[in-house]
Amino acid sequence: MIAYLSALCGDKMQPIYLDNLATTPVDPRVLDAMLPYFRETFGNAASQTHLFGHRAVSAVEEARAHIGCLINAEARAIVFTSGATESVNLAIKGVAQTYHDRGRRIVTARTEHRAVLDVIDTLETDGFEIVRLDVDSDGHLSLDAVDEAVTPDTILVSIMHANNEVGTLHDIAAIGAIARDRGAFLHCDAAQSLGKTPIDVETMKIDLLSISAHKLYGPKGVGALYCRRRDPRVRLAPQVHGGGHERGMRSGTLNVPGIVGFGAAAAIAGAEMTADSERVMDLRQHLLAALRNGLDGITVNGREDASLAGCLNVAIDRIDAMQLLERIPEIALSTGSACTTAIPQPSHVLSAMGLEPERAYASIRFGLGRFTTRAEIDSAAERILATATELRTCPPADDDAERTSCVRLST
Ligand SMILES: Cc1ncc(COP(=O)(O)O)c(C=O)c1O
Repeated sequence: MIAYLSALCGDKMQPIYLDNLATTPVDPRVLDAMLPYFRETFGNAASQTHLFGHRAVSAVEEARAHIGCLINAEARAIVFTSGATESVNLAIKGVAQTYHDRGRRIVTARTEHRAVLDVIDTLETDGFEIVRLDVDSDGHLSLDAVDEAVTPDTILVSIMHANNEVGTLHDIAAIGAIARDRGAFLHCDAAQSLGKTPIDVETMKIDLLSISAHKLYGPKGVGALYCRRRDPRVRLAPQVHGGGHERGMRSGTLNVPGIVGFGAAAAIAGAEMTADSERVMDLRQHLLAALRNGLDGITVNGREDASLAGCLNVAIDRIDAMQLLERIPEIALSTGSACTTAIPQPSHVLSAMGLEPERAYASIRFGLGRFTTRAEIDSAAERILATATELRTCPPADDDAERTSCVRLST
């Protein structure tokens, strides 16, 4: 990839990573914490008869405690998985299979990540009644609509904390109160918000929380599900069988180095979240100002103030975002369209917010993170402004302008 970028951009042009909502680089401190668990401390956490196994277990338990601490949960309520997608599957299918006799209604939002929407689609095929709530033009849910939708026969409400495309933060505490009042469990997909903005499973009345290490400067392939153990206890039908690891909820040999990395990432986030998000918010405002100073027709998708610090989704009038991104491959960004088929479609999130396809096709998502610098923002803004101006003044010939290529939205 580096060779490909160098060939495209010339050796002098440094690639700039502004796609931190797709994934984050591993923090060097996290990597340092993980390395011994690949080398000398490589034991299987299920091996109870020797020191190698004991050391692996205590490292896993320390990580569990760090993650619990970050969300105000008891460590025992954390179940390790391979990532947020698996956690979501365990939470939603696990509740549906255990509690279908209590009710068959599930409430969610149209702007959820595909991990949630696809799982819920399969339950609809199995006969569950699904309510998919609309959002307003900022991506927000109406609490009155939630209140109306969550009837006494609702077994599960699944609403994400921070949206991965526009950064909208939902009022999880208010939604949690409604769900608790009706006896429904609340599952929250917090893959994007963990360690970026505070989460408290008690005050927010969250019963199930899906999280992932690789959005938090930890490694890929490891995540967790918080599953409430009391007031009320949530019982989940396991989705992966074979050995009874993780108190029977998720079998399979634990990814010890990955879990250690997740724990270290959580500990760092707990200590640095406030300072990190203030710095990233300043950079975001700086980027938005630079774009607005250099170009007319810049519109923020979502509310400017109530959103995740590292997320800036903007539409640039009279620009095709894919064409723009294709001309600056040295800058890692995402567009407002997704191509699950050969023809790109406007993203389901932007569509649910009521954006016209033209504006969705003109939309770019910036994902800023812990390692983004002001110099990178200045350089990226400069190159984007120059390229957008070029595209506006000399648009590509009709043949080139067709959206035939497919820059898939990084989730
Ligand atoms: C909101 C949200 N939920 C779930 C996921 C899936 O996470 P993972 O990559 O850990 O499976 C992602 C990331 O792609 C996400 O942004």
